[in-house]
Amino acid sequence: MAKNYQILSTIYDTYWGSFAQRYSELVLNFIPEKGQITVLDLACGTGSLAINLARNGFNVKGIDISTEMIEVANLKKNSIKGVEFKVDNMLNPDINRKVDIITCAFDSVNYLLNSSDVRKMFNSSFELLHPGGRFIFDFNTEKAYRKNNNFEIRRMVPGGYYDHKMTYNSHKRLAQTIFEFFDGQWELHIQKPYEYKEITQILQQVGFEILFTFNNFKGEPVKQDSDRVFVVAEKPK
Ligand SMILES: C[S@@+](CC[C@H](N)C(=O)[O-])C[C@H]1O[C@@H](n2cnc3c(N)ncnc32)[C@H](O)[C@@H]1O
Repeated sequence: MAKNYQILSTIYDTYWGSFAQRYSELVLNFIPEKGQITVLDLACGTGSLAINLARNGFNVKGIDISTEMIEVANLKKNSIKGVEFKVDNMLNPDINRKVDIITCAFDSVNYLLNSSDVRKMFNSSFELLHPGGRFIFDFNTEKAYRKNNNFEIRRMVPGGYYDHKMTYNSHKRLAQTIFEFFDGQWELHIQKPYEYKEITQILQQVGFEILFTFNNFKGEPVKQDSDRVFVVAEKPK
């Protein structure tokens, strides 16, 4: 079995790259009024969001636990100024200065498999933000995994294909996704759903003020059955 994103990193942008463009537009709507803006992108993956934000003049650091995702990010960054990438764990990033914005995009939070890790990540994000700084992220709710239980698709990649199979165990509240490649290599990804109430409660306990929550990139309100929730929280000034 390959590590998470060891192989997937090579095709990640083909299928999921466009999410980052829309995410950058979302983040740009919530930038505090200030001169030079500094951003920390947690679980930055292949770096598309970080690179887009750097192109908009921000000073961005992206961290990700996957060496292979960071390798792709470093290749893509090319000569773009104001962005750097590092292998690191979002539970406790080794960052020595505070930032204005922290992002954690595209259900990366769901890779934290218990709420004490979510609290730990929120706590360290709170510590790393300047007062008035904003924390922008999204997470999948149980609805997303229930809806896609037994989802299966074969997708073409250069030289072959890969099979993507997702199952959801509602007793354990864990989603299991297997990515199996044509050459026999495979990866197993486990994610945990979180609900609106538990996430907003942890944020408030950590000290964040919740500014906005919404259901999708159009900014529609969160519903009882939202499968993804976007959050903009602020560290009080
Ligand atoms: C679905 S991808 C999202 C990547 C990127 N944020 C995007 O929007 O395309 C999830 C990412 O979370 C990373 N990840 C999972 N657990 C992590 C952790 N504890 N610390 C840092 N990164 C983590 C994975 O390596 C992967 O790159």
